[in-house]
Amino acid sequence: MGDLRIGVIGLGFGEYHVRTITNLPGARLAAVADTVGDRVDRIASTYGAAGFHDATAMIDSGCVDALSICVSPAYREPILRRAAAAGLPLFIEKPWAANLEQGLRFRDLVAGIPVMTGFSFRFLPAFRRLAGLVAGELGSVRLANGEYAFRFLPPNDNWLWDPSNGNGLFNENSCHLFDAVCALAGTPVAVSAAGRPYAGSPSEDGAALVVEFESGAAAALTIGGIAAPAFRSFPRLDVITERGQARLSGRSHIWESLAWATDTDTEIHQAEYPAEELGTTRYTAALSHFMESVRTGTAPETGPAEGLCSVALAEAVYLAIRGRCRVVIGRYDA
Ligand SMILES: NC(=O)c1ccc[n+]([C@@H]2O[C@H](COP(=O)([O-])OP(=O)(O)OC[C@H]3O[C@@H](n4cnc5c(N)ncnc54)[C@H](O)[C@@H]3O)[C@@H](O)[C@H]2O)c1
Repeated sequence: MGDLRIGVIGLGFGEYHVRTITNLPGARLAAVADTVGDRVDRIASTYGAAGFHDATAMIDSGCVDALSICVSPAYREPILRRAAAAGLPLFIEKPWAANLEQGLRFRDLVAGIPVMTGFSFRFLPAFRRLAGLVAGELGSVRLANGEYAFRFLPPNDNWLWDPSNGNGLFNENSCHLFDAVCALAGTPVAVSAAGRPYAGSPSEDGAALVVEFESGAAAALTIGGIAAPAFRSFPRLDVITERGQARLSGRSHIWESLAWATDTDTEIHQAEYPAEELGTTRYTAALSHFMESVRTGTAPETGPAEGLCSVALAEAVYLAIRGRCRVVIGRYDA
């Protein structure tokens, strides 16, 4: 089988995908598309890819085998419809959707084609190692304590705050931590939370919350965009498990080191994982997983269900804050 020809749609953060794909063995950046002509022309010529000013024209051209969709949720629907009709495997940036209603519509639109929700955190090597330990010698998670807070306050008119697009920091950004915690602890069933637009943002920009899981596990999380810029040690996640304890430490959006010990260990084990270096980015592992799933015909580990789970969690956090109550997360995927 030859290189997988990937097309990237949306060239804001999508340019980062472009750089990742360009350095990914087995992948070829075949085409890029954006409605902003300058972006297309610059990136297409820099990376030697076909350029399209219309995403549907790219899909219809037949020059790609798979798509990386990097437009924000409000612009996805027509692209998903066309891509699904063409049967193309899709890597779709987080968040899966602005809200559950839209998320369910997206899920139904792409039913039957391979789809990966672009959560990068859970594919990073340090996280994979922790997930393996939780499945093995450490045993299942009982308590978790995590933080994904850094200085990130887009202007008040940015799409991120629009309830019908990014739907605020917690849906757009904290979803990375939500997904990581759910990957370890399972299905969330209830949330209690407090937070505010501390920095005058259009919606809450910082919060502390407790998530309860079906398994009986509980996680205390701090999230938001109001941290001091000098602190780069995010994200962080501590877990206490059936038979031990572990700490994942990050730097600038990448899990970088893992420390763990079982209840019978006398020393803490430590493993370090290189951060982004020449030719690899924080998306290399996630996109490699996507390519592997396309090649083998297996479902990606993060599909629409995992995307919906983080959207449901974000919605529950907003409800818990605004209603000052504990919110039970019911069946949201029917
Ligand atoms: N995983 C991460 O760390 C990370 C970081 C940043 C952004 N993101 C996600 O990436 C997505 C895009 O975010 P962004 O910050 O790049 O947004 P952006 O608005 O800066 O860029 C999106 C681009 O998509 C283009 N676009 C919109 N509709 C289009 C269409 N129909 N056809 C072609 N192009 C179209 C826009 O012109 C724009 O250039 C969001 O879902 C966001 O949450 C993820």
